[in-house]
Amino acid sequence: STAPGRRAPHRLDPTGPCPHAVNARLLAEGAVTPVLLPGDIDGMAVLGHDALRDFLSHPDVAKGPQHFTALSEGRIPDGWPLRTFATLPGMMTADGADHRRLRALVSSAFTARRVEELRPRVATVAAGLLDGLAEAAERGDGVADLRRHYALPLPLGVICELLGVDRAHQDRLHELSALVVATDIGPDRAVAVNRELLELLTAIAAAKAADPRDDLTSALIAARDEDGDRLGPHELIGTLLLLIVAGHETTLNLVTNAVRALCSHRDQLALVLDGRASWSDVVEETLRWDSPVSYFPFRYPTRDLTVDGTLIPRGTPVLAGYAAAGRDTKAHGPDADRFDLTRTATVKHLSLGHGPHYCLGAPLARMEAAVALETLFTRFPGLDLAVPESELPRHSGFVGNSVRTLPVRPGG
Ligand code: HEM
Repeated sequence: STAPGRRAPHRLDPTGPCPHAVNARLLAEGAVTPVLLPGDIDGMAVLGHDALRDFLSHPDVAKGPQHFTALSEGRIPDGWPLRTFATLPGMMTADGADHRRLRALVSSAFTARRVEELRPRVATVAAGLLDGLAEAAERGDGVADLRRHYALPLPLGVICELLGVDRAHQDRLHELSALVVATDIGPDRAVAVNRELLELLTAIAAAKAADPRDDLTSALIAARDEDGDRLGPHELIGTLLLLIVAGHETTLNLVTNAVRALCSHRDQLALVLDGRASWSDVVEETLRWDSPVSYFPFRYPTRDLTVDGTLIPRGTPVLAGYAAAGRDTKAHGPDADRFDLTRTATVKHLSLGHGPHYCLGAPLARMEAAVALETLFTRFPGLDLAVPESELPRHSGFVGNSVRTLPVRPGG
């Protein structure tokens, strides 16, 4: 292999194949790896656990798009598949005081206490969805897609309820959101998807402004109207989009990946069903072992920065390699690639982020996933995959990490 910093860049596969084997190979060569992003844009990825943790909280690393050199130089076209991640107005692309202002507007809705209050409602929704899953299986010779009937509508329904978004918009919002996080769509489609999503959210906000309710969208609109310094019009739409996308695409992958892991490690499932491990252990081990987020875009060093011996030039778009960090043997031990609920981990996974942009929805994600899994396996303890794990089609894109469908036999 070549010297660190001179390595040939790894071309990220926009179709999003299973990342773990490639990540292990890249990690063996170093914690930081040069990558080629779609459109042959040079980037870097931080894959090592320690390097990633330091990088995520480094004072000379920013998320504001003004720090992205290729964007400032006009080399990032409108239809670039990752453009929304780089430019969406809101907390995800803000730093310092701006970031704190945008995050504070919504953070009180996602505290551990508020989330605990939602638990009974989430359990009710989950139970209702399982009736639908059972019916779908009856219609389908005992087989139904768990992702479509359960892992998706649960978090999507919950975030839409919090935001006060009508049931009628939910399917389309998911279709569009799935295309925003896909990295393999063409430029014309990417532009059209973004336009439609912004128009739809603008219409939703306008309807809400005319008829405010006790929900998060109404609270955001009030903040915008009372005082434009607290939330600008683009920031309102950007915040709605971020909450909808981040609030369901990730939990969807987490529940999907946990069910895949438990079905293909029945001894581990037995530990939980016998009370020797908890649903929360399943959630944490799945987050580490098969992170719902593979490569998260972007951060930019605000000066030339050397990370673990590799120089990352100022303004380079850097991906956070969460799935890779979760299997870093230096942090998690030589058996890091084993799904093991009894792990007495001293090192915490980074799969919900770290530093100022740590996942705002972490308590909600953990609660939803634990409730989803407990409700599912309590009702269907014999549930199993209907297709071998290795044959499941991958979900498109290298930002998320999951499969496209999850055919299961609820009755085993
Ligand atoms: C940020 C993961 C669920 C809202 C993040 C980040 C990660 C993450 C890794 C940091 C990204 C970065 O800057 O590198 C996850 C996972 C989830 C999940 C794995 C589920 C299993 C949720 C939910 C919400 C949410 C349910 C709903 C509110 C956000 C927001 C941010 C964020 C708003 C941006 C925070 C900021 O920039 O300050 N999430 N997330 N996430 N997450 Fe989550």
